[in-house]
Amino acid sequence: MGLGHPPKPEENPVRFKFVYSKDDKTPKEVLAREGETLLEVAHNNEIELEGACAQSLACSTCHVVLEERIYDSLEPAVEEEEDLLDLAYGLTLTSRLGCQVKVSKAMEGMTVRLPSATRNFYVDKTKIASIERGK
Ligand code: FES
Repeated sequence: MGLGHPPKPEENPVRFKFVYSKDDKTPKEVLAREGETLLEVAHNNEIELEGACAQSLACSTCHVVLEERIYDSLEPAVEEEEDLLDLAYGLTLTSRLGCQVKVSKAMEGMTVRLPSATRNFYVDKTKIASIERGK
């Protein structure tokens, strides 16, 4: 997990933005360390990106939408990530799971969009299990 706070300017951080919609007029600028995941960066900066399974590739609540140039520059998603993305609300062609994308210098100046909603089937499954247990 991350350090729990954004890097200081002397750490030579990568600077980019999170937005909540395509026409969000108040982007949240963040400083990030290379190697941190986008989920860790969001949490360091009090951005609402859930991450229900604590980065263990078992939910899709860390779904983010990337710029095409950034998406294309990344290693492709592994099969487990693809399967989880298929279940994500508001999936796009440049969607990834925020806990699987690590910050690099190439991300300087990018904009990361958060989907308008997330589907937490990880928790939902637990709920279903408890309902079934109560029968
Ligand atoms: S936090 Fe659950 S898959 Fe990313």
